[in-house]
Amino acid sequence: MIHVRGLTRSFGAVEAVRGVDIDVSKGEIVGFVGPNGAGKTTTLRMLTTLLRPASGTATVAGRDLFADPAGVRRRIGYVAQGGTVGPFSEVGEELVLQARLYGLSRTEARERVAGLLEELDLAGCEKRPAGQLSGGQKRRVDIAMGLLHRPELLFLDEPTTGLDPQSRTNLWGHVRRLREESGMTVFLTTHYLEEADALCDRILIIDHGRIVASGTPSELKAVHDAGTLDEVFLAVTGHELREGAAA
Ligand SMILES: Nc1ncnc2c1ncn2[C@@H]1O[C@H](COP(=O)(O)OP(=O)(O)O)[C@@H](O)[C@H]1O
Ligand SMILES: [Mg+2]
Repeated sequence: MIHVRGLTRSFGAVEAVRGVDIDVSKGEIVGFVGPNGAGKTTTLRMLTTLLRPASGTATVAGRDLFADPAGVRRRIGYVAQGGTVGPFSEVGEELVLQARLYGLSRTEARERVAGLLEELDLAGCEKRPAGQLSGGQKRRVDIAMGLLHRPELLFLDEPTTGLDPQSRTNLWGHVRRLREESGMTVFLTTHYLEEADALCDRILIIDHGRIVASGTPSELKAVHDAGTLDEVFLAVTGHELREGAAA
């Protein structure tokens, strides 16, 4: 579903992504983790066609990222870090509008939105401005936004950051269920390694723009002789603080 070799991208003198290889199979849930500033968002923005890589090759959802970015866009969903829905937009209206932009008729759009709101436990929220929803509800609206065109591959950038443990567990539950029901592939970033351990099939750890470890959670723990993924993470990325780096 994703095959990437040697992807790079710099911002001025900052080498944000310095040669990344990624392989993701259909139906996998893959966690992309790393310290602040490691290059996670930059990688996601390249894989979702929002940012042009400086070099490398990439096939995303069966389409060449460089030759057919529009084909990639049609087949993927992307939920950005920090979300996309404005605080004053009525949830249902905003979703229907977005579905119409994907070319659905008004009736189809309404049906698709109603279905997604139901699936994501948001029924009853359609008339409310997004700004009045809880953090967890807002994130689920963002996810609904990314699912309107029924993508086969969904990218989520820090979907659970800032949510309380109940909302995080609930959201992970929704992601798992989407995978079970539709066979969707999910590529997501997170800082919550315990959750990634429980819910991801495979983990890629990125640091300073390079993948520094990858494997199933149990493989990673075995290789690094660690009891938790947090220990693996510190073993491969070190203890130096990254407070200066962008989120
Ligand atoms: N638009 C940009 N302009 C300049 N530097 C950027 C930009 N986006 C990201 N960077 C830099 O690239 C590096 C990687 O950032 P990012 O991909 O956002 O990391 P992460 O998502 O892992 O926290 C950081 O050093 C960050 O400051
Ligand atoms: Mg980021």
